[in-house]
Amino acid sequence: MLSREALAIQEAALAEVALAGDAETLAGVNRKYLGKDGPVGALHASIRDAAPEDRKRIGQEANELKVAIGTALLERKQALEELALEAERRAEGFDPTLPPARIRRGSLHPVTQVTRELEDIFGSMGYAILDGPEVELDYYNFEALNIPADHPAREMYDTFWCDSERHLLLRTHTSPVQIRALERMSPPFRAIVPGRCFRNETVDASHEHTFHQMEGLVVGEGVTVGHLIGTMKTFLREVFGRDLEVRLRPGYFPFVEPGFELDVRCPFCADGCSICKRTTWIELCPCGMVHPEVLRYGGVDPERFTGFAFGLGLSRLVMLRFGIDDIRHLLAADLRFLEQF
Ligand code: FA5
Repeated sequence: MLSREALAIQEAALAEVALAGDAETLAGVNRKYLGKDGPVGALHASIRDAAPEDRKRIGQEANELKVAIGTALLERKQALEELALEAERRAEGFDPTLPPARIRRGSLHPVTQVTRELEDIFGSMGYAILDGPEVELDYYNFEALNIPADHPAREMYDTFWCDSERHLLLRTHTSPVQIRALERMSPPFRAIVPGRCFRNETVDASHEHTFHQMEGLVVGEGVTVGHLIGTMKTFLREVFGRDLEVRLRPGYFPFVEPGFELDVRCPFCADGCSICKRTTWIELCPCGMVHPEVLRYGGVDPERFTGFAFGLGLSRLVMLRFGIDDIRHLLAADLRFLEQF
């Protein structure tokens, strides 16, 4: 509690602070009240001659005044600075009362969205998420997948070669990562590999030179076609939110035996639509049991281990998911298209 004298000093000082309109005046108020010859200094000095029982109280009062006046000076200084800044901005034509410009939020590319969703689904089933080089060796893209140099299956893959000796290429599928995974991981393991692939083929509404696939590979003791079908059904249920009928047709890929084409019952119609080309089935994912020769190439004993693999057309799944009718939209970098996702 301040004495009446101290209170009077404080009130007088605060009134002058409130009236001060610039930094110079404030400095004057500071000198006048908190300077050596000012009232607060005098109060301090009076301690020396005061009765011993009054000294503590006088000291406390002097400190309290110093803090109160000092704080008021600082706050007023900041307020004056803000006012000056605002005046400056107004002079420049800045109007702080205008609503802010709309911040345009970006969004993830549809391929990224679906990739992340698939990574979540397969991740929750214990799959590792792997990556591999886009510029690949012939050995991984073809040879170790049981497609030697003169094999007619090479015709299935229109390849962009990177060198005249044909050692390096832009990978035509994500399957080379099967071999890389077999070399590095010891069974049992399961893994997916989402990624870009490249083919030197004529571009149309369903074929791009650059597109996305997602490889899947499961290797262990006693892995069967039943596990393959169960896995595909589970993942389709997660993606489309309900159970979808699937069927396997025979398919030929040198790196699986037996090989299949997995079709899914069209999720968009009951009796045929443009998406399923009026067949009610959509071709989704080639797959099969890993060929023993491929396991051997990867350093895994085919007598002991078996495995299944699939090569999901990720770009195709993205199109199904969002009802996109032309694959060329995906990589055209057209904002009018991308802003819809
Ligand atoms: C393969 O690429 C095999 N590696 C798949 C595989 C993996 C089979 C594991 C067995 C075991 P295919 O060439 O059919 O197979 O391609 C797989 C999918 O990729 C196709 O179903 C299709 O959805 C997609 N695809 C292929 N070429 C293109 C292209 N030019 N544009 C867009 N998508 C394509």
